[in-house]
Amino acid sequence: MARLGAAILTLAILAARASSSCVPKPRFQWDEIKYLVAFGDSYTFVQGTAGYPKYSFIGSYLPGEFGFSPEKLLSNKIVQNFTGTANAGPNWVEVLTGCGTEPGETSPLACDVQLWDFAFAGADVSEEFLPLHHDYTVPLVNQTQQYLTWAEPVVGRRMDKSKALVAIWIGINDINDSSDFTGALLPKFYNTLINAVFKQSVKPMYEAGYKNFLFINLPPLDRTAANVRKERPLPNKTMIGWWNKALERHRRAFQARNRAAETLVYDANSFLNGVLDDPEPYGIKNTTSFCPSYAEPEVLVNPAKYGCQPLDEYFWYNSGHMGTQAHKAIAADLVEFLKRRSAGQ
Ligand SMILES: *[C@@H]1O[C@H](CO)[C@@H](O)[C@H](O)[C@H]1NC(C)=O
Ligand SMILES: *[C@@H]1O[C@H](CO)[C@@H](O)[C@H](O)[C@H]1NC(C)=O
Ligand SMILES: *[C@@H]1O[C@H](CO)[C@@H](O)[C@H](O)[C@H]1NC(C)=O
Ligand SMILES: *[C@@H]1O[C@H](CO)[C@@H](O)[C@H](O)[C@H]1NC(C)=O
Ligand SMILES: *[C@@H]1O[C@H](CO)[C@@H](O)[C@H](O)[C@H]1NC(C)=O
Repeated sequence: MARLGAAILTLAILAARASSSCVPKPRFQWDEIKYLVAFGDSYTFVQGTAGYPKYSFIGSYLPGEFGFSPEKLLSNKIVQNFTGTANAGPNWVEVLTGCGTEPGETSPLACDVQLWDFAFAGADVSEEFLPLHHDYTVPLVNQTQQYLTWAEPVVGRRMDKSKALVAIWIGINDINDSSDFTGALLPKFYNTLINAVFKQSVKPMYEAGYKNFLFINLPPLDRTAANVRKERPLPNKTMIGWWNKALERHRRAFQARNRAAETLVYDANSFLNGVLDDPEPYGIKNTTSFCPSYAEPEVLVNPAKYGCQPLDEYFWYNSGHMGTQAHKAIAADLVEFLKRRSAGQ
């Protein structure tokens, strides 16, 4: 009897383990995150007082501008103004962290969740695959080098890395810049690019002690103002699906090889398609066009002068970028996603 009891107990423990292995207790806890280290392109870049105007938080790819001193980094401030992001208002990383959302200048050091943002507007994954947009554009694989070489010894080493989240949103320029490549070659090409993201950016960050990684998949670029007017949008939904599947595949492979990592893909594509299908709950009224005078600072306060609706009502800020309202919507949904993941759901 005792043996049967023990066997039943063993079975019960095994069953409990099996069911808990479906929902492992996550090491990642959003409420405890104190640092967001971000990499990517214009969707993610924030302006810094030490940055390349309209392109970066700090430095550029130009000779002598790639590296920076500890003093330059520590005195650098996030600028929130009309040209402080690629959407004339707070973007998703600023809303998510609450760091730099107020007009004017904010030191990341003064934020409850510090935002260290090395995204560079116009970035592709690597110049190995696609040409730089400008001679000053820092590609993703070099953003992580820049961070690890000059910022890690200054701010990184002071972080409790279990409270740091590394966020990477990349591919928007890559898929745009390669959209005229032969279609049949694209799935393999995307796979090569995302492989480089993990080998050259994620792995070195992981080896430097960062364990929590958030990847964002591609937004519905097949539904930009120009694309909704085309019979054959470029990039199209199929292409974006190829990229997003490859991203999830690489995340899963990286997770399997690196058990101490906590890797998440946030499905921005599904969420934003939902916003485009039903924009009203988000205060968005125009999903098919943007205000042609988006670059005039006065358009924010006097849109009628330019024949536009208030900029907040447009999903798209311009030909390639989402507006501030879409950034706010994504940040709110992302917080819910991160909380669910923290609860093991
Ligand atoms: C925004 O801030 C930057 C950096 O301080 C400055 O160069 C630029 O003129 C400001 N833009 C506007 C529209 O105020
Ligand atoms: C950027 O990264 C690539 C790939 O590792 C490398 O070949 C290149 O030298 C880097 N650029 C700089 C300025 O370090
Ligand atoms: C999108 O483009 C790809 C690559 O050219 C092509 O294979 C695919 O059929 C297109 N999808 C649609 C829905 O047109
Ligand atoms: C969307 O915005 C464009 C540009 O301002 C305007 O021409 C168009 O009428 C608007 N569409 C809707 C449905 O509001
Ligand atoms: C993608 O390419 C189109 C067409 O050249 C352009 O209008 C759009 O701004 C680009 N998107 C981004 C994010 O730069």
